[in-house]
Amino acid sequence: MFVAILMGSKSDWPVMQATSEVLESLGVEYEVTVSSAHRTPAETKKYVAGAIDRGCAVFICAAGLAAHLAGAVAANTVRPVIGVPVDAGPLQGFDALLSTVQMPGGIPVATVAIGKAGAKNAGYLAGQILAVADMSVEAKLIAERAANVENIVKQNEDLQRELKG
Ligand code: RP5
Repeated sequence: MFVAILMGSKSDWPVMQATSEVLESLGVEYEVTVSSAHRTPAETKKYVAGAIDRGCAVFICAAGLAAHLAGAVAANTVRPVIGVPVDAGPLQGFDALLSTVQMPGGIPVATVAIGKAGAKNAGYLAGQILAVADMSVEAKLIAERAANVENIVKQNEDLQRELKG
């Protein structure tokens, strides 16, 4: 079982590295591929079929501008598809957000936030999907949430100390 990260262009990689870092921290296997809904539609369809045969459990699709990659992948599989709108171009990802999230009923794309925060959450969401059947991934997710709590509590303690001078 692995997660497939697809990007419409290599120019999306600086954003999508955040997804790969999260998947690595969770011990989830993944592969990264550049494939475009608009520029290489036939190759994208072929890639999806091949990835399913090889055991892909979740697709994470990132694209900017008129972003149709996640929708095009979702049209060709019943495996979960997560869409990451990339902040490329003059509309800073708002175009990609609407293109990715506004799917017609019956073909869902779980759309995350624009840019790096979304890329990070795509990794966590894919991990959470796999964690339903993988206790080691679930344990890592729970440990990370506990570390989040510690981190915020410490931030608050530091701030209170600073405010008291
Ligand atoms: C989209 O167009 C890509 O996903 C990328 O975000 C955007 C710009 O692509 P490039 O012109 O940089 O290749 O298809």
